Amino acid sequence: MPPKNITISVSRATEDDTLPLAQVEAIGFHDPTAEEPSTSMGRVMFGPPTESGQSFRAQELIQRMRTMPEVRLYKAVSQEEGKVVGFGGWRFYTEPFPEQDTWEDKPWEFARNPQACNEFFGAMARTKTKYMGGQRVLSKNIAGLEILVVHPDYQGIGVGKKLIQTGLDDATALALDKAYLEASEAGYPLYKKFGWQDVDQVLIDLGKYGGKGVWPTVCMRRGD
Ligand SMILES: CC(C)(COP(=O)(O)OP(=O)(O)OC[C@H]1O[C@@H](n2cnc3c(N)ncnc32)[C@H](O)[C@@H]1OP(=O)(O)O)[C@@H](O)C(=O)NCCC(=O)NCCS
Repeated sequence: MPPKNITISVSRATEDDTLPLAQVEAIGFHDPTAEEPSTSMGRVMFGPPTESGQSFRAQELIQRMRTMPEVRLYKAVSQEEGKVVGFGGWRFYTEPFPEQDTWEDKPWEFARNPQACNEFFGAMARTKTKYMGGQRVLSKNIAGLEILVVHPDYQGIGVGKKLIQTGLDDATALALDKAYLEASEAGYPLYKKFGWQDVDQVLIDLGKYGGKGVWPTVCMRRGD
């Protein structure tokens, strides 16, 4: 249960915030009750959270902030505790999205299953090219929501909503009138409430990687 009467503020994250963001991401996507073989894409790809994995991820986030001008990271902070409890990761595409797929497989040093990471993130990259690369011809300026995660102790009190609303408000201020994302089942109902609509679905067989079942991801867009 989240602490009572807390105030949550959402603001742009800096490089100093990347470790707490990586920690929230790791714990937020981690289901401690999950059994093996896992039915979770995150667990199959990365295994349980580790400190070294979070440090690596923090460095990766810094690298993205430095080298990708379209990347915008937001933190949700519980004011009373001064604690980062949520993470929203956006990319504001003010430049044309590449028409051709530029995905290249990576080593994923800290992952449990690099092959699963490449299948999952490669599929996400291809759908971005398919829907944003193509759509840009018709409608410029898209805000892509890539990461939305709230610390389990702070879920269900509006943190996710606040992270989405802040990103959308900033996008609107920059005249980005369209938005795109890839939703897990956990995020899907919230995105629907904000007006995102289904455009496609990607299914990944977790059985190939020692997990169980099929992991669905719904590609969604907002705006015409
Ligand atoms: C999905 C997630 C980000 C939602 O954040 P949150 O802070 O718990 O959500 P909020 O408290 O802001 O909820 C906002 C609304 O969505 C609803 N909602 C949130 N998650 C829901 C779910 N799984 N099913 C149905 N409704 C849900 C809430 O009831 C609330 O609706 P209301 O305002 O009408 O009461 C959070 O649960 C999370 O981090 N999950 C694990 C990581 C993850 O899967 N992220 C999504 C990746 S695409």
